[in-house]
Amino acid sequence: MAVSWVSLRYNYSQIVPRAAKESFSLVLPFSLPRLTKLTAPYHISTLCCSEKVDTKEPRSPDLVALEYADLNLTDKISGELGHVRIRQHVNPLSSLFSKPVPVPDWDQVFRDPTLPLMVDIGSGSGRFLLWLAKRNHASGNYLGLEIRQKLAKRAEFWVKELGLGNIHFLFANAAVSFKELVSKYPGPLMLVSILCPDPHFKKRHHKRRVLQKPLVDSIVNSLMPGGKVFIQSDVLEVALDMRNQFDAELDVIQHIDAIEPGVLCDNDGWLLHNPMGIRTEREIHAEFEGATIYRRLYQKRT
Ligand SMILES: C[S@@+](CC[C@H](N)C(=O)[O-])C[C@H]1O[C@@H](n2cnc3c(N)ncnc32)[C@H](O)[C@@H]1O
Repeated sequence: MAVSWVSLRYNYSQIVPRAAKESFSLVLPFSLPRLTKLTAPYHISTLCCSEKVDTKEPRSPDLVALEYADLNLTDKISGELGHVRIRQHVNPLSSLFSKPVPVPDWDQVFRDPTLPLMVDIGSGSGRFLLWLAKRNHASGNYLGLEIRQKLAKRAEFWVKELGLGNIHFLFANAAVSFKELVSKYPGPLMLVSILCPDPHFKKRHHKRRVLQKPLVDSIVNSLMPGGKVFIQSDVLEVALDMRNQFDAELDVIQHIDAIEPGVLCDNDGWLLHNPMGIRTEREIHAEFEGATIYRRLYQKRT
């Protein structure tokens, strides 16, 4: 039986061909970090002994497909969403993005708008948030804010396709819309994530980075007591920039290792593991290239 890459479910230490789930499963003899750091030609056939499999070398988009295989999302979307061309960056300071988006009628977008809310700032394709929303469909609502309209629209298309009533994507500049959106949400704000934000490397472009002091203030003030902020980047300079801004708020929030001794950090205070149970797309691509992901998880004091 031939098994294609996209039909494989890849989850940290296991690779299980979905088509053959009933008959057998494969457990890799190594964990995710080693897999993703492999740069030499790497053939799936080396993982399997008795089954005939595709010997194509994996690329990082294949790993994204594997990681999100359970969502079973339609790749080919017709009509105006047919071609989602990803421009490298947009300029969030452009007048095009200067107005806050209207606050939606939360009753229309969420089945139960009183559930605790997670907001993902710069949600990209939305797959990460869709995965979480599907997994936690009874216990939380999920809001993705994305400044590239086509990505937000395609993510909403997927929401409908999956029939989920606890997730919504908005085409919005988080820097100008976050505060009002969350202040008008009827339930508590339990978690905010900013994951691999656009780095805007040039010093004169740093002001385009999504995390600036007003957004930090809005996040910290809006979180419920015990609510969390999760940040990560594969660019150390960007991770440090975000970390310094949240570390400046340590009278209101604490890093998680101060509260939960079981959470492990390296000597520099970066989390050793992704606490979300799923990687974002950028994270998958970066780890595939051998990059380190720098992560911090804060909790608001009660
Ligand atoms: C490098 S991508 C990372 C996407 C996703 N978080 C991930 O880790 O795969 C950064 C995303 O943030 C979006 N973005 C940048 N500035 C934003 C802003 N001010 N408001 C909302 N989204 C923004 C970009 O369009 C892009 O999709």
